[in-house]
Amino acid sequence: MDRMDDTESIAGILLPGHLHSQQSLQYAQDFQFKEEDIVIVTYPKSGTTWMQEILTLIYSRGDDDIATTVPNWRRAPWLEHIYFKDVIIEGNGPRIITTHLPSDVLAPALQKSKAKVIYVARNPKDVAVSYYYFHKMARFLPNPQPFPEFLEKFLEGKVYYGSWFEHVKDWHSVSQTLDFFYITYEDMQKDLRRSIKKICQFLETPMYSKEVDKVEQHSNFAVMSQNSMVNYTLIPCEIMDHTQSKFMRKGVVGDWQQHFTEEQNKMFDKVFQEKMSDCDLQFIWTL
Ligand code: A3P
Repeated sequence: MDRMDDTESIAGILLPGHLHSQQSLQYAQDFQFKEEDIVIVTYPKSGTTWMQEILTLIYSRGDDDIATTVPNWRRAPWLEHIYFKDVIIEGNGPRIITTHLPSDVLAPALQKSKAKVIYVARNPKDVAVSYYYFHKMARFLPNPQPFPEFLEKFLEGKVYYGSWFEHVKDWHSVSQTLDFFYITYEDMQKDLRRSIKKICQFLETPMYSKEVDKVEQHSNFAVMSQNSMVNYTLIPCEIMDHTQSKFMRKGVVGDWQQHFTEEQNKMFDKVFQEKMSDCDLQFIWTL
């Protein structure tokens, strides 16, 4: 099967043309956020879908009816995607909006609003591995070539959606100017219940313990892997080929250890030190 190779770009970052257009990107940049909006911001493969599910379940107080009947891209659509305008519901109450856009594109619009921003980060080594497999299955991304070449491109930021380092650093640098909550994929893996409670606190949405139980139960990897509203099995195989890799692939911390050579790991650490030396974020990637 051929790859879809049309491309868009914004602020020097390449994006797949299958999902983005100049109009959709302009719409995203000009978007007027409402005070009640909740915006999930991630670099790809960092736990976006997981956070979409947790927020859906928090707002349905643990009931999984919406989570199991409405696809995630309808209930937490990507701001920059072509279909966004048609699916965003102009109702009252919180809208959950997702984005991978960099802060220089989106922060100005967010700063004008009181929208709440939830930033999910993940160990970039695991992001690189997850992204590699995602390239294999998502036919709107370029063929990833062998892993060593992909890893080099990832470190250089020459992949779709740009550099992981810039994404994390730049969003962190504007965090003080926004109503901002930072959490990692590893925090959620280590203690999902505690993470859900912290998210509820940030959202000012108190929940009963039994409701938290349900959010926890319906957002775990085994349950989400079987849920066709989030596992992308509804998407035709010409677009996402699940024979190459599942979207809900492994859902673990530290899979990079199965993929990196010692040399690649050293190179990664060196680049990480160089790029992140001016960033005061604390990263705790191990459980
Ligand atoms: P892996 O490829 O390492 O398995 P995103 O939603 O940002 O694209 O990220 C996808 C990654 O999050 C995939 O990682 C996927 O398996 C993982 N993921 C999704 N839901 C999860 C859950 N409930 N628990 C743990 N990992 C989850």
